[in-house]
Amino acid sequence: MKDCRILITDREIEARVAEIAELISSDYDGRNPLIVSLLKGAFIFLADLVRGLTIPHEIDFVTLSSYRNGQERSPRIEFLDHMRIDVRDRDVLIIEDIVDTGHTLLSIIDTFREYGARSIRVCTLLDKPEAREVDVPVHYRGFTIPCVFVVGYGLDFMEQYRNLSYIAELSRSRTAGDGAGGADGSPDAARVVPVSVHPPRRDGET
Ligand code: IMP
Ligand code: MG
Repeated sequence: MKDCRILITDREIEARVAEIAELISSDYDGRNPLIVSLLKGAFIFLADLVRGLTIPHEIDFVTLSSYRNGQERSPRIEFLDHMRIDVRDRDVLIIEDIVDTGHTLLSIIDTFREYGARSIRVCTLLDKPEAREVDVPVHYRGFTIPCVFVVGYGLDFMEQYRNLSYIAELSRSRTAGDGAGGADGSPDAARVVPVSVHPPRRDGET
């Protein structure tokens, strides 16, 4: 039985991240953008992306209250430390791991706007457009994926699997009940099978 299915390989990620870095370098030529990354999920994407940039830039981080713990979504998204960042008159580039419903991004965009950012753009590694509940702009997008729960390359399930070098769809245990997950497609904690230490194979591979 497979634990999970690779959706995007490390090579595919590497190539796409390089392309996006080139695009951003060209779009922001002559400027000094403030690159703001959302912790924790975007930390690996950010680290790889900025190493591909050829323009001056600054980096900062925001922490939002964690809204997914594998079960219920918290009703409110709160900034834990955004007051540290001075976005006034800055060209802000937000780096996200994944845009799902869009609520997280919307709240951060609204806040940065309120605090006087000159421009705000969004760069996300993954986009799940089918899950969108609010309209948010996405200027740079690594990959569009279907409405499945994914882990790896920074993304977690209950704080696990961030270290995987690829993006994998997390499967539910076929042996634990009916296999139903959350209404939004997220897996139930009790039903998730731990990912083995060996990289899983793609479907159809021997
Ligand atoms: P949104 O507010 O629904 O767009 O939520 C985006 C945040 O939810 C991301 O930054 C992730 O932290 C988390 N998230 C959404 N989908 C997934 C997933 O498939 N795997 C892991 N985290 C996810
Ligand atoms: Mg995130």
